Amino acid sequence: MELECNRTVGLWMYQNGGGDDIERKMILKLLERGINSVTGLDLRYAEADKNGLKCKGFNIYDMDLFFSYNAGEQTKSQLYFYEQLNNIIPTINNFKAFANAEDKFRSNQLLSLAGVNCSDFYICHRENPDLIRQKFREWGKLVFKPLDGWGGVGMALIDSEYTLDTLMPFLNQMDIRHYYIERYIDNDHTDFRVDIVDNQFIASYGRVASDKDWRTNITSGGKVILREASDEIIDLSKKAVAALGLEIGGVDLLYDREKEEYVVLEVNGIPAFATPDQEKMGLTFNDKKIDTIINLIDKTTQKQGHTHEQK
Ligand SMILES: Nc1ncnc2c1ncn2[C@@H]1O[C@H](COP(=O)(O)OP(=O)(O)O)[C@@H](O)[C@H]1O
Ligand SMILES: [Mg+2]
Repeated sequence: MELECNRTVGLWMYQNGGGDDIERKMILKLLERGINSVTGLDLRYAEADKNGLKCKGFNIYDMDLFFSYNAGEQTKSQLYFYEQLNNIIPTINNFKAFANAEDKFRSNQLLSLAGVNCSDFYICHRENPDLIRQKFREWGKLVFKPLDGWGGVGMALIDSEYTLDTLMPFLNQMDIRHYYIERYIDNDHTDFRVDIVDNQFIASYGRVASDKDWRTNITSGGKVILREASDEIIDLSKKAVAALGLEIGGVDLLYDREKEEYVVLEVNGIPAFATPDQEKMGLTFNDKKIDTIINLIDKTTQKQGHTHEQK
């Protein structure tokens, strides 16, 4: 069979945890649709001038779409080029939504304004620590978070005024402009992860924290568990992804035992595929996720054609 390719997609995909295999599958499926792929486009090493943005000898502006899927290796300079790239060609995720999802304050505010149930949050300038104390008295228990953190790193759970007093001088030393806090959600230390692609439900699973930590992140010792999402959870997750404007999103939810409701904790813009070990455990959603992403890329590149018009 001879294939004629009339489109090209640039890929920047994580290679660990089975990512290389996923990428190979994607390349083949894209080819079946007449779409060529250029892989390993690490924007950190891109160069740009009047003529375009070059990476590995390719001018990416000549491509029909850029697929950015490498959370661990994202640097500031990459993000800078990613943003400009999306001024010229479509990217998945689109940069604006991706950047909002990376920021806890921005995403929670977009979620709450869209009517999606998310955690109570508060942000204020570091010059106003008294406002934090007021919130502590109101909420009883709170969590400090870095605005752009991941893996549960850098967070602090405050459950007494004494802990707050101990922490504040340390925070003062840090190079941050804002204090960002959330009300602590009374939960059983398990969460839901719901994957959505192109407004379609792909899969759900969960994580359970280790008995030594209140965070469910794998990096904090948490473990993946099989967990089916109800229609209510799926619906909430779709609304969350739509509120942020993401093409692909992995929604993390907790069950608030006190308020007896589900809460969207965050939406991940680069939700990982199941690793080979997780697949053996029964997380068998990879093929469905790949197919839905390929459909989305096909659809998006057909619509845009080969013009360089902005969306
Ligand atoms: N407001 C909160 N109330 C209770 N637990 C929380 C709260 N925020 C975070 N957690 C716990 O900490 C983990 C990490 O928080 P999250 O906001 O998802 O940050 P990260 O981006 O670092 O994963 C969550 O999976 C959850 O278990
Ligand atoms: Mg998280």
